[in-house]
Amino acid sequence: MTLDDRWQSVAVLGAGGKMGSGISFLLAREMTLQKLNPENAGRTYRLYLIDVNPEALEGLQQYLKKQAGKFAQKQSDRLREIYRKRGSELSEDALITQFTRDLMGLLRPTTRLEDAADAHMVFEAIIENIEIKARVFQQLREQCPETTVFFSNTSSIPIKLLNQKAGLEGRLIGFHFYNPPAVQKLVEIIIPEPVRPELPELAYALGRRLGKKLIPSNDVAGFIGNGHFMRDGLHAMQEVQRLQGEFHFVQAVYIMNRVSQDFLIRPMGIFQLIDYVGLDVFQSILNIMNPYFPEEQLHSGLIDELVARGIRGGQYPDGRQKDGFLKYEDGKPGAIYNPETGKYLAFAEGNWKSEADARLGALPRTWAPWKALLKDPDRDSRLSQYFQQLKQMNTLGAQLALRYLRRSKEIGEKLVADGVAQSAEDVNGVLMHGFYHLYGPINHFV
Ligand SMILES: NC(=O)c1ccc[n+]([C@@H]2O[C@H](COP(=O)([O-])OP(=O)(O)OC[C@H]3O[C@@H](n4cnc5c(N)ncnc54)[C@H](O)[C@@H]3O)[C@@H](O)[C@H]2O)c1
Repeated sequence: MTLDDRWQSVAVLGAGGKMGSGISFLLAREMTLQKLNPENAGRTYRLYLIDVNPEALEGLQQYLKKQAGKFAQKQSDRLREIYRKRGSELSEDALITQFTRDLMGLLRPTTRLEDAADAHMVFEAIIENIEIKARVFQQLREQCPETTVFFSNTSSIPIKLLNQKAGLEGRLIGFHFYNPPAVQKLVEIIIPEPVRPELPELAYALGRRLGKKLIPSNDVAGFIGNGHFMRDGLHAMQEVQRLQGEFHFVQAVYIMNRVSQDFLIRPMGIFQLIDYVGLDVFQSILNIMNPYFPEEQLHSGLIDELVARGIRGGQYPDGRQKDGFLKYEDGKPGAIYNPETGKYLAFAEGNWKSEADARLGALPRTWAPWKALLKDPDRDSRLSQYFQQLKQMNTLGAQLALRYLRRSKEIGEKLVADGVAQSAEDVNGVLMHGFYHLYGPINHFV
């Protein structure tokens, strides 16, 4: 069965979730374009949106309607041409309405797995739990045709394990989108052993069709992205512990968050990123990875303690950031959690923040914000100059930043040495396209 045939019947599991909704939009958009292609006249297309939570499915449909309208507006010239070829001259407004109607017409929201029995491709984005994922795959295996193929969005579970537990006999591949899937360019492709011979090529063709940057990762728990992110986060937490000899916990978290954002010129600080992903998600990924790396301690007592206290981060259904290590006002951090009092300490309260800033010291003269460097054609030489200057400074900020940079490089190199990534370029690609870093961890700066 070709990819073109497979587009006719597709299912998303966990469609109402954070990742599932973005994946559903990408697939619905592509399937609508397929449907509008005159070559496909006479074919029917169905996208099963499956979720155990009916309210999530309601919200999903609103989201898809809005996204379809936005897409049609942005791509109006291209879509006008497509509808013209089909014999309709449409005004801008009519075009948006028509495309939205065409996209919504493909959707089959349901809470029942049985409804997707004729799906040719199944995308799974349910909770990160081995047993639950395996059980759902097993049920689908029993009801779908033998030709159906499966794609898992797991962040950390070895695909081989899911394949075995669900008895899928090589019909499963890892297709790891980054959050949010409709925006982030990267998909990590994880090809397990065994795999049906036609599946890798199918996965690459599919990823290209969705306009994604595709990077292979070997089938090792955590893959490249979380293999780096988890250890990077643990490094920051160890530094917080070390700094507590001299600083209060709140100051130590503030310092490491600023070092990882400002001094390393990343899009957000490490604790803000952990909040964004969710402390509970961070914890569950560590729990899945830890048994596979007995020589490392992929575990954090601090995360366990905060999660047990209900400090979890993540987002509200309307996209607003929930509080975690940091507290957010209009999306911006304004306070840090203090475990001693169980309350958040505001940046403006007392002089703890200015004290910490003074101890960090100034940024090098050649510093520029992440956003400014993102589009700078001279980015690499400017970064080189910046890190050169940082190395000549002896401030606390420079020392912590260089230790961070060295640790990040060490993590990246180990991913290659352990055979998780096939090359340094792949590690750098994942961090740059999945995490929006300006430079990969395996660099010549340190
Ligand atoms: N959130 C991220 O940043 C991120 C990034 C990459 C990959 N992932 C992975 O994507 C997957 C989903 O993560 P998420 O953050 O979107 O989770 P989420 O909790 O936002 O969504 C999961 C959805 O699955 C539904 N669900 C749960 N059990 C189900 C079942 N048995 N059948 C059908 N639906 C079910 C839930 O109702 C929910 O709507 C996980 O494997 C996660 O590791 C997450």
